[in-house]
Amino acid sequence: MSTHILVTGGCGFIGSNLIKYLSTLNLFDKIFVLDNEITGTAAALAGVPHQFIRGDIRNQRDVDEAVKKVDVIVHLAADTRVINSISNPVYNFEVNVHGTVNILEAMRRHKVQYLINASTGGAIIGETEPPVHELMPVNPASAYGASKASAEAYCSAYSQSYGLSITSLRFSNVYGPLSLHKGSVIAAFIKKILRGEACDIYGDGYQTRDFIFVSDLCQGIIKALERKERGVFQLGSGQPTTINEIINLLKDVSGHKYNLELAYHDYRVGEVRHNYTDITKATDYLGFKPEVSLRDGIQITWDYFINKDDILNSSLTHRAIQNAD
Ligand SMILES: NC(=O)c1ccc[n+]([C@@H]2O[C@H](COP(=O)([O-])OP(=O)(O)OC[C@H]3O[C@@H](n4cnc5c(N)ncnc54)[C@H](O)[C@@H]3O)[C@@H](O)[C@H]2O)c1
Repeated sequence: MSTHILVTGGCGFIGSNLIKYLSTLNLFDKIFVLDNEITGTAAALAGVPHQFIRGDIRNQRDVDEAVKKVDVIVHLAADTRVINSISNPVYNFEVNVHGTVNILEAMRRHKVQYLINASTGGAIIGETEPPVHELMPVNPASAYGASKASAEAYCSAYSQSYGLSITSLRFSNVYGPLSLHKGSVIAAFIKKILRGEACDIYGDGYQTRDFIFVSDLCQGIIKALERKERGVFQLGSGQPTTINEIINLLKDVSGHKYNLELAYHDYRVGEVRHNYTDITKATDYLGFKPEVSLRDGIQITWDYFINKDDILNSSLTHRAIQNAD
C-alpha cells in the first residue's frame, strides 16, 4: 500500500532538513509540502523529490486540499518568533492554534490517522527548575508558549474524542544548516559575526539553553514516525549550555579570524533564564539518541553560513574579514 506524508511548514528550517532525510529513506512513497513561504522558501527544497502546495494553514480549504492526499502528517508550520508573539499575540494564535485545529479538523474529515505535532519545551513550561520534563505543569511566559500549549491540548482532545493518533514532540533549541532566515541565537550570532556587527546578549550570558543539532532532531522525528507512540515527548540534547559557551565555540570554529563584538542588554520579557531537557522518555519509548556534539554541530552550521556570504550581504561580510585580528 502506498503511503503519503504531508509536512506542513516543509519549506522552513526544520522542515527542509527533515524532507531531505525522508527523501533518502523508503518510509513514504510521496512527500507533500504545505507552506505559505512566509519565512521558509520552496527553493530550500530544490532537487528534493516532493509535491509543493502553496497554502495557508489558517485557511481550511488549503488545509483540506493537502490533508486529503495523505496518510500521515508532520505539522511544523507555525509562527515561531517568541518575541514577535508578545507584540502580536492574535496573529500568533491564528497561525499556531487556529491553524492546528484546521489540520485536526481535516484529519477527522479525511480519516487521516497519524499526526506529529511540533511543540516546544521551554516556552510551554516557563520559568522552572530544569531539567524540564513531560510531567511538569505548563506555565507559558509568552503568547508563543501559550499557543503551543493550546495546540498540544487540542491534539489531546482530538485524540481522545475522535480516536486520532497523535504525538506532540517538544523540541528544544534547534540549530544547523538551512537556518539562514532564523533569528534563533546560533543563527543570529553567526550572521552578526559575518556582517561585522555586535552579537546581542540579553542578560549576562550565563542563561542556559538546550541546543540540539538539526540532524539529531530529524532522527527523533523519524523514530516517532516509525513507532507512532502517542503522547508528549521532549527532544533535546539533555545538556545545558550557556550563551557565553556558544560565543566561545563560535570564536573557536571561526578560527579566531573575526572580531567578536558583544552587546549586552537587559533580559527580555517572555524568555526563560534556565532551560535544559530531560530526554529519558524519548530515549525509552522512541529510541531517541542525539549524537552530534555541540562543537561539531556549530562547526557544520558555521561552514553552512560561511558559504552563504553572497546572501549575507557581501560588503558587510567583507568588512568583518577586514576587521579580523
Ligand atoms: N527551531 C527551533 O528551535 C524550534 C524549537 C521548538 C519548536 N519549534 C517548532 O518547530 C516547527 C518548525 O520550526 P522552524 O524552526 O523550522 O521554523 P521556520 O519558520 O523555519 O519554519 C516554519 C515554516 O512554516 C511556514 N508557515 C508559517 N506560517 C504558515 C501558515 N500560516 N501557513 C502555512 N505555512 C506557514 C513558514 O513559511 C516556514 O516555512 C515550528 O512549529 C516551531 O514552533 C522549533
